[in-house]
Amino acid sequence: MTAEPRPRLVLGIETSCDETAAAVVEAGRIVHANVVASQAALHAPFGGVFPEVASRQHVRDVSYVVEAALDAAQVRLDDIDALAVTNGPGLAGALLVGVNAAKGLALATGTPLVGVHHLAGHLASQWLHAGGVVITPAVAAAAPPPPPLPHLALIVSGGHTELLWVRDLTDVTRLAQTRDDAAGEAFDKAARLLGLGYPGGPAVERAAAHGDPDRFALPVARTDDGDWSFSGLKTALARQVERLGATGAARGHGAASGDAPPPDVSVADAPPPDLPVADLAASFQAAIVRALVERLRRAHAAHPGAAIAVSGGVSANTALRSALAAAFDVPVWCPPLALCTDNAAMIAAAAWHRWTGPPPDGGLGLDVDADATLG
Ligand code: KG4
Ligand code: ZN
Repeated sequence: MTAEPRPRLVLGIETSCDETAAAVVEAGRIVHANVVASQAALHAPFGGVFPEVASRQHVRDVSYVVEAALDAAQVRLDDIDALAVTNGPGLAGALLVGVNAAKGLALATGTPLVGVHHLAGHLASQWLHAGGVVITPAVAAAAPPPPPLPHLALIVSGGHTELLWVRDLTDVTRLAQTRDDAAGEAFDKAARLLGLGYPGGPAVERAAAHGDPDRFALPVARTDDGDWSFSGLKTALARQVERLGATGAARGHGAASGDAPPPDVSVADAPPPDLPVADLAASFQAAIVRALVERLRRAHAAHPGAAIAVSGGVSANTALRSALAAAFDVPVWCPPLALCTDNAAMIAAAAWHRWTGPPPDGGLGLDVDADATLG
């Protein structure tokens, strides 16, 4: 931390994947505006995010969402003390749009700009307590406190599955991660196999609500070092679908992040006839939840009494939330539903919590670069 005073109002921008988002957040906690333009409908026909389509849509939307956030917060650019933008990890072209928009604003206004690691944003989302609404400081004072530190943090999203020991938001140690598919990515692939559309997580959750989670045994591989591996689970589901003789058995490959979608996923299919979609979805969801809870249980045994904080798109999943609440005798913190999936309020909050002042050369942060593989 330098002697630089922390900014009060931060304008955050997030374009790392398929949400174009801008938000105005006060003191890392009070959400004055949270605007998210989701591209989900655009990517749905491909069964996954089509990177080039994402970049082009970010270009169309980014100025609009920034203006909408300022309007909703009833502030002007002059009132903003700092700018924050996700500069990685994510889709290279998509990140570039947000980073360049933020640099343009920094250059035009002289406002300090900081690049934010996307996962630091998910961690900081626990400090926010209102999404998509303008709230007052009085409301903020009455809001529940953020999770105590240190805590165990599970980030489960479309791009990441990470278990972290968070001493504070600038001092984090990774305890486990996925070796292959992220949990959200696994949900998206399962949804494609089952003909449930995109984004897959909410679709699988809806289908699973009417299903029997014990009908199909879908194991998640255990690894020696305690990392997760979810790619085998997708294969197990594909085999099960094949065994059931469904025509949708070959739907397991599609638009992975960074690839153009192959022609066979150009249409989000209807569920194949007679496939027990609800039972398959419920069994699949239960397998993911089990694997997440089990690993967290081991980590918690090593950090007894520590609070647990879960964030990222998959933390919106009700089955996961219930299983976590049942598994631990400590509070399990989850962001409000609207702040589980990607948004810019969490980016603004992370910038505030990690604030170290403008770049040491006194520049405007124009050296912030998009980095798709930011570690
Ligand atoms: O955090 P996020 O918005 O983006 C990334 O940083 O990747 O997470 C998106 C992921 C998608 O894979 C989506 O299917 C999943 O979160 N997701 C869910 C649910 N809502 C979103 N997965 C399971 N259950 C949900 N309710
Ligand atoms: Zn995310």
